[in-house]
Amino acid sequence: MSQGLEQQAREQWKTRTGFMLASMGSAIGLGNIWKFPYITGENGGAAFIIVYLICIALIGIPIMLAEFAVGRNTQKDAVGSFRELTPGKPWFITGIFGVAAAFLILSFYGVVAGWALSYTTKAMSGDLLAIPADQMGDAFGGFIGNALSPILWQTLFMAIVIIVVVRGIKEGIEKWNKILMPTLAVLLVILVIRAVTLPGAGEGVSFLLSPDFSALNANAILVALGHAFFSLSLGMGTMITYGSYVPKNVNLPTAATGVSLADTGFALLAGLAIFPAVFAFGMDPGAGPGLIFVTLPAVFEMMPFGQFFSVLFFLLISMAALTSAISILEVPVAYFMRKFEWTRKKATWIIGTIIFLFGIPSSLSLGAWGGFTIFGLGFFDAVDYLASNILLPLGGLLTALFVGWALGKQKSLEIGGLSEASVWGKLWILSLRFVAPVLILLVMASVLGFLTF
Ligand code: TRP
Repeated sequence: MSQGLEQQAREQWKTRTGFMLASMGSAIGLGNIWKFPYITGENGGAAFIIVYLICIALIGIPIMLAEFAVGRNTQKDAVGSFRELTPGKPWFITGIFGVAAAFLILSFYGVVAGWALSYTTKAMSGDLLAIPADQMGDAFGGFIGNALSPILWQTLFMAIVIIVVVRGIKEGIEKWNKILMPTLAVLLVILVIRAVTLPGAGEGVSFLLSPDFSALNANAILVALGHAFFSLSLGMGTMITYGSYVPKNVNLPTAATGVSLADTGFALLAGLAIFPAVFAFGMDPGAGPGLIFVTLPAVFEMMPFGQFFSVLFFLLISMAALTSAISILEVPVAYFMRKFEWTRKKATWIIGTIIFLFGIPSSLSLGAWGGFTIFGLGFFDAVDYLASNILLPLGGLLTALFVGWALGKQKSLEIGGLSEASVWGKLWILSLRFVAPVLILLVMASVLGFLTF
């Protein structure tokens, strides 16, 4: 360990609001705007949403608080914080999983974000809405299967992510989130107002608000649980890393609750921007992953001032993806800076470039390299599967067990800022010890095929 680096003051957020906005920026991303609407569409709407809300409350908020608490207490990266709290024990492997998951997730996140950037410019030029509605699917398939163009957009996106992270916590991450997050909220509200005032929007609103529990099955519950995790950026050390820059006087339970509520509110608003419009024009709400790249452009074609709203929409997705990607890159950057004593600049450029290069086969696997498979999955899907279905739940499970059991109740309550006498303190420990581990194990058993319904 270098004395020099140890003595150098560690970076911190400038303000509490800056920290909250950055954490919301991490949580609110493609998961809210792209994935939440389509899985809600596939799983029956309102009843699915209720289950999702329960998952956020029962395991999402408690694990987010656990991550913030570990980071703030140790002021270290995802690996270093476990080492510091339990020296000589293997718990640091949780952090290694996180760093590995960050490499994998960001590699394909950059690919999808590149699509969103490209669709923003296609929407601006008018090319997107010039495509006949029934050819939108082919146009999307043709674009993502192209060998060069998506990679150029992915390059641009990753370059922006790197440039922000190089500037550091206050001047890079905090500053950009302070600009982008309020803008994001304004764009989304405009889109919601447009959607709910369309003639025929009512059907889409009631799809989101009136629950039909018969549409709910065990699988839908597991999907909701897995998504609560992904959407809140848990299980990867992101919130440990962001928590490590938090000053001592910030109340962490309030912060974890606030960030989770904002993330959930954003997902619901994204649904309210999309479904009323989808129903108003008689499209299919259960279109799956193509919902925003295929169904929505066709919806914008039929909508008055559709081009204007299509630009806003794809801009919204690109910005939301950017603030999340920044938080994913910060996980390995913080680790490599401490471990190898690299400067921030060196760590960010080297790791950002490696992750970018690793994303190229993901992009190619959707076209030219489609024949190359791993366990029957294309490269893109294999990377997603390994990270989202194995590493993230495992990271979350280990974090819950670590704070729930390994640290000891007193220490955990102390670093989390809760008292043993309070109901919240009791519920938090109860969730970390039993509720979260059991539910996460069920999800893992089901996605890995050990449990079928
Ligand atoms: N939460 C982000 C989204 O909804 C993605 C994300 C950022 C993430 N950091 C993460 C997911 C860490 C899992 C773990 O798009």
